Amino acid sequence: MKGDEPMTHPTVRWPGRDLLAIGDYSADEVRGLLQLALELKESWRRGERAQTLAGRTLAMIFEKPSNRTRVSFDVAMHQLGGHAIYLGPDELGLGVRETAEDVALVLSRYVDAIVIRTFAHGNATTLAHYASVPVINGLDDLHHPCQALADYLTLAERFGGLDALRGLRLAYLGDGNNVCHSLLEAGARLGVHLTVATPLGYEPNAAVWQGAQAVARETGACLSLTDDPVEAVTGAQAVYTDAWTSMGQEDQREIRRKDFAGFQVNAKLLQHSPEAVVLHCLPAHYGEEITSEVAHGERSLLFDQAENRLHAEKAVLVALLP
Ligand code: CP
Ligand code: NVA
Repeated sequence: MKGDEPMTHPTVRWPGRDLLAIGDYSADEVRGLLQLALELKESWRRGERAQTLAGRTLAMIFEKPSNRTRVSFDVAMHQLGGHAIYLGPDELGLGVRETAEDVALVLSRYVDAIVIRTFAHGNATTLAHYASVPVINGLDDLHHPCQALADYLTLAERFGGLDALRGLRLAYLGDGNNVCHSLLEAGARLGVHLTVATPLGYEPNAAVWQGAQAVARETGACLSLTDDPVEAVTGAQAVYTDAWTSMGQEDQREIRRKDFAGFQVNAKLLQHSPEAVVLHCLPAHYGEEITSEVAHGERSLLFDQAENRLHAEKAVLVALLP
């Protein structure tokens, strides 16, 4: 394909569809998005510069801070020939200056898709309900679907392709919230053997867990839950962790530091999984959920994950924009 020809993917095209949670997508659809991401990454590396989204605009509503999500979506739009507009909390005042309904109705007249980073998942679903353009979840308190796509893309590259995810032994240590939920929903669809270790009281949301288990029974994925981090990492091929204190929970930091003691991904814990690679969505809180030594060490895939946000999000944009 020449660089100036539009790129299309015959099977991974759902114009107008939202991406609010991985749970809204089938196993084949999740796999298709990852396949498209691999193809887009490879074509970019070959020097092809398909302007698939020329003339398109993405609005990015952010009610929380961001490095990766904001920058990777902006760069993804730019590299595909489109344009992104960042709307921070002071600019938009979603639900304060203007109702979510009116924000959705107005933005739908200007732009071709909306990314939202917010607190309650209901804010994202409300926006999607009223918007006539696709709404993509750039993290809320319940889900982080674009992160999970980048994470499994990273693991597929490391372990030899998408088929290698089937039966891959992944351990997640930390809070059973947004990142964990999306890893569960995607892992169930991809056939991953995912063990989640949380302290008591920090288990994944029951509906997300049950939904992922129902899919796992169909795909052969294996999802298990423990409060023992050593049990979770023993024999794992990949160990994943996330912040103990997520954005918006800063007032709980001290109690969480106590509750999550023993769940730190460090050199000692990783002696139980000598071959395992290490993942973290970032930003990291060194000395809490992970040590800097591990995050910057030989096993770390953290910065490949961060790069893969760009490639995964390109696939999402190409698939969903009308
Ligand atoms: N992992 C992730 O979503 O990073 P940001 O919060 O920097 O966007
Ligand atoms: N669980 C974290 C993820 C950050 C990307 C948070 O919500 O802050």
